[in-house]
Amino acid sequence: MVELINYMKKGLADAPSNPILKFSDYASKIPDVVKFTLGEPDFNTPDHIKEAAKKGIDDNHSHYAPSNGTMGLRTAASEFLAKKYGQKYDPATEVLVTTGVTESIFDTVVATLNPGDVMVVPTPLFSMYMGDLGILNSGAEIVEIDTSTDNFKLTPEKLQQVLEQYGDRVRLLVMNYPTNPTGVMYSQAELDALADVIRDKPIFALCDEIYSELNYDQPHASMEKSLHDQVILMNGVSKAWAMTGYRIGITCAPKEILEQIAKVHQAVVTTEPTPMQDAAEEAFKNGMDDAQPMKAEFQKRRDILYNGLTKLGFDCVKPNGAFYIFAKIPAGLEQDDNKFIYDLVDKAHVAVTAGSCFDKGGAGYVRFSYAVALDQIEEGLKRLEKYVKENKK
Ligand SMILES: Cc1ncc(COP(=O)(O)O)c(C=O)c1O
Repeated sequence: MVELINYMKKGLADAPSNPILKFSDYASKIPDVVKFTLGEPDFNTPDHIKEAAKKGIDDNHSHYAPSNGTMGLRTAASEFLAKKYGQKYDPATEVLVTTGVTESIFDTVVATLNPGDVMVVPTPLFSMYMGDLGILNSGAEIVEIDTSTDNFKLTPEKLQQVLEQYGDRVRLLVMNYPTNPTGVMYSQAELDALADVIRDKPIFALCDEIYSELNYDQPHASMEKSLHDQVILMNGVSKAWAMTGYRIGITCAPKEILEQIAKVHQAVVTTEPTPMQDAAEEAFKNGMDDAQPMKAEFQKRRDILYNGLTKLGFDCVKPNGAFYIFAKIPAGLEQDDNKFIYDLVDKAHVAVTAGSCFDKGGAGYVRFSYAVALDQIEEGLKRLEKYVKENKK
């Protein structure tokens, strides 16, 4: 019999399965585990949004919507971005509704990269970027910039060095702020300085702003403000309205660029589920400040977890966005983060994510998500304290 598996897409078999999911499955089998691994809010979707989804079903919104998304949702998203962040996109031609930012990333990578092109990724960063199969297909190269020695922020100097090294091959710069996994947020001045490095060059800036509503210490800043014509902006309802399961994101870009990206979306998705678009429209239109109570709760948890971890000897940059803390494993404990997470979960029943999952600069760190109830955070800290006492050499 022919071994068909050997005739599949080259490189696919070597593409790693998501190690975060593998560990999460392992940890879930421990009955009383405290999980700091979640990448989604532990809140429910607001009721008025749920009602909009139900109404969409009852009103027989059961047909294909326009491929770029319903006009209602595109308009609501455009108005939300304009009112909240001063970002200007024409809903008729510059907003595309996607299956979450996950699809926005795939579409953009496929639409912008050619064989030999370089995609620049400041790391540690959300693993989706390094594992995106669009890159495998495009024949482009990923160049990582390790930010761990710069408080987890890309600097203009390091970006400039990469441009000098790779020259015209650089086509796409990936930016995510507030950042997963570090929770770090850039100031507007920092984003402007990075924009200056690539301004007027044939380089797109993919700006993943999915955590824009979860900024604790400053208003949201955006590269769109200083580099509108080169930015491909991504946002969505997953995090700010606790709607990860609804699977609705948006991609915004200048008209000519968006038209090309939309062709990829048409080919892989056609259009998003119509009642889910109704729900997302309600979120953007009538839920402008829905994230505020959740944000206040996250901020409280951040402070408790940050203080607790620091006391236990975990060195971490204080995060000012999203719901993650990236912590260095204290000296005297297992320094291989992949081994550390299994040892910690086996002995202390505390689950965290290995820093190496987020690529260069992540080794020796672990990510704590505080999308976990306060009593769980306190319990987790107690168990960690005992673990550190018993295992530190
Ligand atoms: C930085 C970042 N981008 C995108 C996503 C995925 O977003 P969506 O649910 O809209 O696909 C996540 C989810 O964890 C994320 O952390």
